[in-house]
Amino acid sequence: MRTTVGIIGAGPAGLLLARLLHNAGIDSVVLEGRDRAYVEQRQRAGILEQGTVDVLRAAGAGERMDREGLRHDGIELRHDRKRHRVDFPALTGGRSVMVYAQTEVCKDLIALQLKEGGPLLFGAEALAVEGADTDSPRVRFRQEGHEGNDDVLECDYVVGCDGSWGVARKAIPAELVQVFERTYPFGWLGILADVAPSHDELVYARHDRGFALLSMRSPSVSRLYLQVPEGTDAEEWSDDEIWAELERRFETADGWRLERGPITQKSVTPMRSYVHEPMRHGRLFLAGDAAHIVPPTGAKGLNLAVGDVVTFAKALTHQKDTGSAELLDAYSETCLRRVWQAERFSYDMTTLLHRAPDATPFEDRLQVARLERLATSTAAETDLAEGYTGFPFE
Ligand code: FAD
Ligand code: DHB
Repeated sequence: MRTTVGIIGAGPAGLLLARLLHNAGIDSVVLEGRDRAYVEQRQRAGILEQGTVDVLRAAGAGERMDREGLRHDGIELRHDRKRHRVDFPALTGGRSVMVYAQTEVCKDLIALQLKEGGPLLFGAEALAVEGADTDSPRVRFRQEGHEGNDDVLECDYVVGCDGSWGVARKAIPAELVQVFERTYPFGWLGILADVAPSHDELVYARHDRGFALLSMRSPSVSRLYLQVPEGTDAEEWSDDEIWAELERRFETADGWRLERGPITQKSVTPMRSYVHEPMRHGRLFLAGDAAHIVPPTGAKGLNLAVGDVVTFAKALTHQKDTGSAELLDAYSETCLRRVWQAERFSYDMTTLLHRAPDATPFEDRLQVARLERLATSTAAETDLAEGYTGFPFE
């Protein structure tokens, strides 16, 4: 099999890239190791930055998002039973975010790809990228049902959109790679519950017992998270214990109430920061979680993946139109500038709101001082609002 761009992985990065290339008249093949139902149901991110919303719309993938997504103009920060709203449009010249789940973005992009785009192969696991530094890189892969009989996808370019455990980045020689990493001594216990969200905007709460986040998936489905110790098993927590802990951490002095409802899913997400440099080797490019991970606080993961594939699609289109590889050559540096801003933002949000197991009273006071500063300084609030609604694509 032969194509111009071989894409490994059908998460948001791979699926959106296939769509952007299709719109630019460039053919691609997407290889996805899992089946379609798995990809469409994997519960992950929920917040789309303004720039992501604009890109999905321009790519012709925004119709259902515009119908069913919830535009949010702010978030609430809570600490010490006090609440403070951050107003995004007022602070950023009109920018906002959209609550529309990653599962739904993937469903929309898969439907479009199968209807109008090039091949999207499910159950096709990439085993290795070969010849990354030649003019004809290849992806060796195994299609389900063809065991013992590897296939080869011959490409002009390969983009590894294969997430944090993918194989693409292994094709970059170790001596050229630098990895920057930090793990956090806590995770998030996330639940989905069949109950209307108790607040119409997201609530980020700092509490001496740990962080809590109120989010949503629709007007009738709540998504909530609790900071838990690293290595926690979700089954250790009964439904009642989860609700009681959420109530404690969200409590306000003005009698705000958290509505309970049936919990339909619970799982624990570990937290880490990770950057793999460079994001390109020869004709192999990395995009999304394959190249970088952020802790989820501030919802940057999916949005960063979108920035990478927009940058790649633009660079390849430029090459096709002008013959110049200038933007492709700059891919890694261009992406990494935005990646590091998001790493900084996610780190700041994480350390602002979570309580480390070894936190000292001095650090506790500093956190509260940072939150008080956000509640009283437009400059501090503007910095948060700009980061939250998204750093621009270059
Ligand atoms: P992925 O979505 O991981 O997609 C990679 C795809 O590649 C997968 O479909 C995988 O099956 C496929 N693949 C892997 N290896 C191969 C192979 N060898 N061959 C073929 N296919 C392969 N972000 C937020 O902003 N908010 C959140 O609340 C949030 N929660 C998260 C919870 C979890 C458990 C995880 C893991 C991530 C979460 N994230 C969250 C991050 C966000 O979901 C990711 O940043 C986003 O999915 C990145 O998209 P991607 O396309 O780069 O990677
Ligand atoms: C969600 C996840 C986040 O990490 C965040 O900061 C806000 C919302 C969510 O899954 O809804």
